[in-house]
Amino acid sequence: MDFFNYRQTKLFAEDSAVDDIAAEFGTPCYVYSRATLERHWRAFDDAFNGYPHLICYAVKANSNLAILNLLARLGSGFDIVSVGEMQRVLAAGGMPEKIVFSGVGKREDEIRAALQVGIRCFNVEVSGELDRINRLAGELGVIAPVSFRVNPDVDAKTHPYISTGLKENKFGIDIQSAIHEYRRAAHMPNIKIVGIDCHIGSQLTETSPFLDAMDRVLALVDQLQSEGISLHHLDLGGGLGICYRDEQPPLPAEYVSALLDKLGGRGFEIMLEPGRAIVGNAGILLTKVEYLKPTAGKNFAIVDAAMNDLVRPSLYGAWQDIIPADEYSKAEPLTWDIVGPVCETGDFLGKNRELKIAPGDLLAVRSAGAYGFTMSSNYNSRPRPAEVMVDGAQVHLIRERESFEQLWAGEKLLPV
Ligand code: LLP
Repeated sequence: MDFFNYRQTKLFAEDSAVDDIAAEFGTPCYVYSRATLERHWRAFDDAFNGYPHLICYAVKANSNLAILNLLARLGSGFDIVSVGEMQRVLAAGGMPEKIVFSGVGKREDEIRAALQVGIRCFNVEVSGELDRINRLAGELGVIAPVSFRVNPDVDAKTHPYISTGLKENKFGIDIQSAIHEYRRAAHMPNIKIVGIDCHIGSQLTETSPFLDAMDRVLALVDQLQSEGISLHHLDLGGGLGICYRDEQPPLPAEYVSALLDKLGGRGFEIMLEPGRAIVGNAGILLTKVEYLKPTAGKNFAIVDAAMNDLVRPSLYGAWQDIIPADEYSKAEPLTWDIVGPVCETGDFLGKNRELKIAPGDLLAVRSAGAYGFTMSSNYNSRPRPAEVMVDGAQVHLIRERESFEQLWAGEKLLPV
């Protein structure tokens, strides 16, 4: 459930009309709902019902400082994949001891920085990374907490680009070799084994792949236990899907209770790394219709947002709902392709949408809170959009629209 609803004909974000937001902050503009964001985070947290756990929000989904700060205030942990994300979390008031560091390519400077601030755990994904962490921890005179991200080879039944738990994917350590890595780690002077981790993909709409992965992970955990290698936590990654169109993913409560049942009384702390399920439906992208261009083959509505602002439709063929900011219109309903001004045929936000639109109308692309702004770029020298957070009737600017000077900040001319 989210807080983007119509009142009479006008679309509201909580108690704020989105056309007023567009008038004040311009378009394109990302609009987030604080109530939705907090409700979704709490849905995960409450689902544990007192069972020891930590929700580590996946920063990559949306890394705006205001969002990280609101989640930190709720007590959230964070899943990061770069030192840049770590710096954002710290700048937003997140606690180092609630940060887990995932990712297949951690550089030396990133590991060192994470060791210096004292993060909760490294999710090790490559054999060589373990040696690197041990050596760097030794140099700094600290003990590094590690968990291995294992690749359980299960089919997440999602888009191939966002499936990560198959043996042909680059992620994690294959589950057969993991035991060997744990044995090595157990003998390293500057490593402390704290957990095990897996993340099998994103936008999963069923519980069964998570449970299949957990079966395989638990078999390994039991084997480790029998060798005297005991773990403190089990991190099951992120991946719970959301409703973009007609998907019916399990609710966080159903998902968590299935995981706890599967755990069968093993007393681990459970960690999760949800991103999309927390922030995806907490955001929309507001855009204005610039021109209508009916042609013999297609009707194009050219809007002021483009693939550089929201790349999911172009990159994955993702379907995101596109709705008018004002349902009242004298225009005839027609089928439109909603396209941006970028010079690529693949620049579209939606295809074949039945809408009543006229130039100057405002449209909202729904479910744009996750992997929207974070995947945006400056392609075609387009300044990135503003971001605002609605809190009831108040609207806070949480990122200014980029200026032209910011487009070339840091660039240098050659000497004459
Ligand atoms: N943990 C790890 C290690 C991950 O790689 C990811 C996402 C997550 C957690 C969070 O997954 P979520 O709960 O958001 O599904 N750009 C794509 C999604 C890429 C996901 C990458 N990893 C999209 O727009 O659909």
